[in-house]
Amino acid sequence: MFERLSRQPDDPLLALIGIFKADPRTDKVDLGVGVYRDEAGHSPIFRAVKAAEQRIWASQDSKAYVAPEGDQGFLDLLWTMVGGKASPVHAAGVQTPGGSGALRLAADLIRQAGTGRIWLGLPSWPNHAGIFAAAGLAIETYPYFDVPSQTLLLDGMLEALQRAQPGDAVLLHASCHNPTGAPLGAADWARITDVIATRGLVPLIDSAYQGFGAGFEGDVAGLRALVAAIPEALVAVSCSKSFGLYRERTGALFAVAGTTAAVETARSNLVAIARTSYSMPPDHGSAIVKTILGTPELYDDWRAELESMRQRLASLRRSFAEALGGRWSNSLAIGKQEGMFSLLPLTPAEVMTLREKHGVYMPTSGRINVAGLKLSDVTRVAGLFKAI
Ligand code: LMR
Repeated sequence: MFERLSRQPDDPLLALIGIFKADPRTDKVDLGVGVYRDEAGHSPIFRAVKAAEQRIWASQDSKAYVAPEGDQGFLDLLWTMVGGKASPVHAAGVQTPGGSGALRLAADLIRQAGTGRIWLGLPSWPNHAGIFAAAGLAIETYPYFDVPSQTLLLDGMLEALQRAQPGDAVLLHASCHNPTGAPLGAADWARITDVIATRGLVPLIDSAYQGFGAGFEGDVAGLRALVAAIPEALVAVSCSKSFGLYRERTGALFAVAGTTAAVETARSNLVAIARTSYSMPPDHGSAIVKTILGTPELYDDWRAELESMRQRLASLRRSFAEALGGRWSNSLAIGKQEGMFSLLPLTPAEVMTLREKHGVYMPTSGRINVAGLKLSDVTRVAGLFKAI
């Protein structure tokens, strides 16, 4: 059987991790995979995560299964964090292996229930299309961002969504758009909400960077307004970045609607889909998140550390944009974008020159992870981009 298979290419973004590691140059710069880094280039474990792990180690007395939908305590606290304390909607959550697991579960549900079509922005996180196609969804696209001018294409997006059929799903990023970092303002969210409501579309909102963009509440403000205004939505939450739990694969999918009956039906379908896929989610990461969200002193410390990461990203952005000067006509936009990513107007050949000649690593799309810069190194790295 294996002989009938053909060899698959490595995922280009994940392959970069190994290629970067193998480069012996000491002044190399990793602007590749979306992992937060500090000024020393290290991806730290949050202080609150370490403290929560100690508490869990001391108190956990069993590794028996939790429940098909995961830990309800974790799900309740996580939905309060994302949906808000006063959320006017009902939400049924299912714990998933990371945010990607949540997206795949959402895709399977859409396939089972809906038109089997999802609208993706151009560009979007490359794995979005892969996940939805693997679940058998047809992919339609809407314009989102113009790379040379570094501008949002909101009118084009809304025009495209006017052509969507009732019941079609639409993928939106809650904040810190991956790969462009282009923020949506409240007025933009209101216009998107209008089209979704009038066309009868079902948004699938990917929330993976809460706390890294406009602020902890600001990063979910658009999401909250949207789900309160429409009958049904799906919200995929990743804890990888906001809690630094990348390898623990911690996330959840929430089915949101105006009635408990609707969300309970969605929950039963999600649990049934998960059962035939991975059966039950991993627990360690969710136990950490539950402990942090449910313990005031850990919560406060986690929020403070997350805020310091957000501030670091914002100041790196400002310095990098200034140091680039007029390299691109809209270089300064990079300073106003949010989260870890910006998408630079570089050709694949220019990306390879930066990699091979200067040890600056990023995917061939030209996406950079701003967190991979060091304040002390911004001028030198910007100089390399200017010379290309
Ligand atoms: C990224 O976009 O770099 C991260 O979300 C990691 C991944 O899995 O692609």
